[in-house]
Amino acid sequence: MSFEVSLPGFWIYGVDVVVFESDGFYSFEPDRVFYGGWQAVGFSEQIKDNRDFFTGRLGDVEFVVCRDDNGMIHAFHNVFSQHASILASGNGKKSCFVCPYHGWTYSLSGSLVKASRMNGIENFALNEMGLKPLRVAAWGPFVLLKMTKTPLSQEEVETDGLVETEWLGTSAGRLSQGGVDSQLSFICRREYTIDCNWKVFCDNYLDGGYHVPYAHKGLISGLNLESYSTTDMVEP
Ligand code: FES
Repeated sequence: MSFEVSLPGFWIYGVDVVVFESDGFYSFEPDRVFYGGWQAVGFSEQIKDNRDFFTGRLGDVEFVVCRDDNGMIHAFHNVFSQHASILASGNGKKSCFVCPYHGWTYSLSGSLVKASRMNGIENFALNEMGLKPLRVAAWGPFVLLKMTKTPLSQEEVETDGLVETEWLGTSAGRLSQGGVDSQLSFICRREYTIDCNWKVFCDNYLDGGYHVPYAHKGLISGLNLESYSTTDMVEP
């Protein structure tokens, strides 16, 4: 499948409407936009203590992130491959993950520790049936996932340098200087389901408030745009 997309004077005209409306175009985006690099999916404080976990969805991938009894961070596909049952939901503390369908039990490091009534089943190897791992790392207050097929070795997990290089690049130093890597506390998470193509939402945010005087008259009445500034507070 191919698309003809014109980008004439992007800021003024926007991109071709096919970019926002086409299911075919959207089908390319998870791989090309979201799965290729690191994506912030949660906050380090959500898994501050051993046995903390949280779940979420990135593109079409359901995931669970946790900290095991040894303090190691893990992330797994949160869908059990046998019958596509979701293993965990929400967030909180768990000592293990128990599949709600057949009750198979997994450690927080992803290994299958109990599978009821499977004794004697030919070719069934408990140690080959663990949860499917995802690449996970932490940088400052953020927990990040990268949807590649190759799992990280345990030594590579939670390596700040890895995320700095691959995710933040040269911005890492500036963000650290501004305290972004250490001074943000997690208070709560609220989720809103917005019935639109994801790019419409981003586009709305990224127009820099151009729409605000017309679409949000209540908000604009409380702002003085002459003095309003989003100036970078970090010296380069
Ligand atoms: S579907 Fe989860 S244990 Fe069988």
